[in-house]
Amino acid sequence: MTRDTIAIIPVAGVGTRLRPHTHTLPKVLLHVAGKPILAHILDDLPALGITRAVLIVGYMGELVREYVDEHYRHLHVDYVEQPERLGLGHAVSLAEPYAGDRPVLIILGDTIFEADLEGVLAGGENSIGVKAVADPHRFGIVETDGQGRVTRMVEKPEEPASDLAITGIYYFTRGRPLFEALAEIQRRDIRTRGEFQLTDAMQVLVAGGTVITTFPVQGWYDCGKTETLLETNRVLLDKRAQPVQIPGSVVHGPVLVAAGATVENCILGPHVSVAAGALLRNAVVRDSIVNENATVEDIMLESSVVGENAVVRGGFRRVNVGDSSEVFFT
Ligand code: UTP
Repeated sequence: MTRDTIAIIPVAGVGTRLRPHTHTLPKVLLHVAGKPILAHILDDLPALGITRAVLIVGYMGELVREYVDEHYRHLHVDYVEQPERLGLGHAVSLAEPYAGDRPVLIILGDTIFEADLEGVLAGGENSIGVKAVADPHRFGIVETDGQGRVTRMVEKPEEPASDLAITGIYYFTRGRPLFEALAEIQRRDIRTRGEFQLTDAMQVLVAGGTVITTFPVQGWYDCGKTETLLETNRVLLDKRAQPVQIPGSVVHGPVLVAAGATVENCILGPHVSVAAGALLRNAVVRDSIVNENATVEDIMLESSVVGENAVVRGGFRRVNVGDSSEVFFT
């Protein structure tokens, strides 16, 4: 069963909340903790015995394709174009020609997860990843019957009956019933907030008697906005970064500097991720992501994301201040 599983990864979205970075790069190729968001997802597949994936591409799909074809030759990846962004449910339905009736693992392309997926695949049940949250009215929420079976899913409930949020990772033991439910919501034009939602298709399945259970997601790292991207960077570096020493610079880990980046006379960290080809010189940088081939020079930066090929250059101040004076630069 596990061996047949195909991963469906929708990455067609425009990523408006991550502008300006997504003007030139698709969201999933933005770096976080040392590699593109999509790489964090794809790198976890082989350990699960998953060798096939379908990527639903749209906005700047060609760049996604180029990246994946170059770096993931060991995976069999098919691409489907989502011509119009009609919602997650619509995106997933486009994978049907490739997935057919196989078991499917759906993973949102802008979220990094930590969960016992091996256990989920071995469990042989339809199951969706959930996490208890303090503010359930902001999320899609799952209600269960007390024995872990989903009874209802509600988008952003005003009076939530549960605190279990739908995180964006779903396992279905068979593709066919899921694709039929997705076709049904499109046929009946069932939309939520104008889009065909995966949640609505699952609701159709549950109403028809299909058993869907939940599994706990320990790590749920959203990368959809600059603040959450930086937060994910912090959390993943805390967990995964190895100690780094850079001659001539001071490093306060955790910090991740890709091979091929140049760091000279800097104070780096904590929580800095520097991609290949970047140049950091005479700079103090903390809590930041510096993307490929960017230049950061003569400046202090924090909580910053510097895009590919961008140049951020400051300068040193000159003062001639008398005794007992006070000078504040803000
Ligand atoms: P989001 O709505 O969070 O992502 O969808 P987005 O559209 O890229 O970002 P914003 O809202 O404009 O900032 C979650 C995931 O589902 C995919 C997106 O690519 C993202 O990975 N998705 C969503 C699709 O592939 N197609 C859709 O029609 C909707």
